[in-house]
Amino acid sequence: MAKRKAELAPSLLSADFGQMAEATRLVRDAGLKYLHLDVMDGEFVPNITFGPKMAADLRGEAGDLVMIAHLIVARPERCVDDFAAAGADVITAHAEATPHLHRVLQQIRAAGKKAGAALNPATPLSALEDVLDLADFILIMTVNPGFGGQAFIESGLAKIARARAMADRAGREVLIEVDGGVKNDNIKRVAAAGADVIVAGSAVFGAPDPAKAIAELRLALNP
Ligand code: DX5
Ligand code: ZN
Repeated sequence: MAKRKAELAPSLLSADFGQMAEATRLVRDAGLKYLHLDVMDGEFVPNITFGPKMAADLRGEAGDLVMIAHLIVARPERCVDDFAAAGADVITAHAEATPHLHRVLQQIRAAGKKAGAALNPATPLSALEDVLDLADFILIMTVNPGFGGQAFIESGLAKIARARAMADRAGREVLIEVDGGVKNDNIKRVAAAGADVIVAGSAVFGAPDPAKAIAELRLALNP
């Protein structure tokens, strides 16, 4: 099997919300593949960020970036279609946020988008066993969602490895995205555990020089 090459996905959560186009341009100009948008509703998590209009307004600036809308919202079925229309490429819903995860993943795919299923740290992988055929991404949270800059939950590494094994058994491409607390000092272990896409919010936009931070994280991933 070809050696897996993990990709970095900067999260705009830690960017200056008054400079989102500049932040998006920085990710694009760094030659990265993914941009991670953390959508929060103040109900599923205490924080509120932005809605589909942000994705629509950044779509042009994002160019060919694969825009991942991480819906950290209650009842994600309410906004899937709006994020699809806004131009998100991947739409990820939390298993804990809806009684109808199977239907939400069907809804995302019906909108012509890649479907992601996200698990909070306390939610077992078994929650995805019966929707694996609908998931293009499995998102493993390695912090409790809601805020950037939190500490990486080390037990997440074993969960990433188990998610990897689950995805490899699926017989189709299912990418593992890892989200939360990733920094220079743990990104290699996250990749080694089996991550395909690795989110970094504060490690990039909390750094004095985000472009330099991206270069350092990429070097750590691919020395
Ligand atoms: C947290 C978000 C994460 C967060 C990651 O709820 O889902 O994507 O932005 O931020 P860092 O990398 O700072 O933990
Ligand atoms: Zn996220």
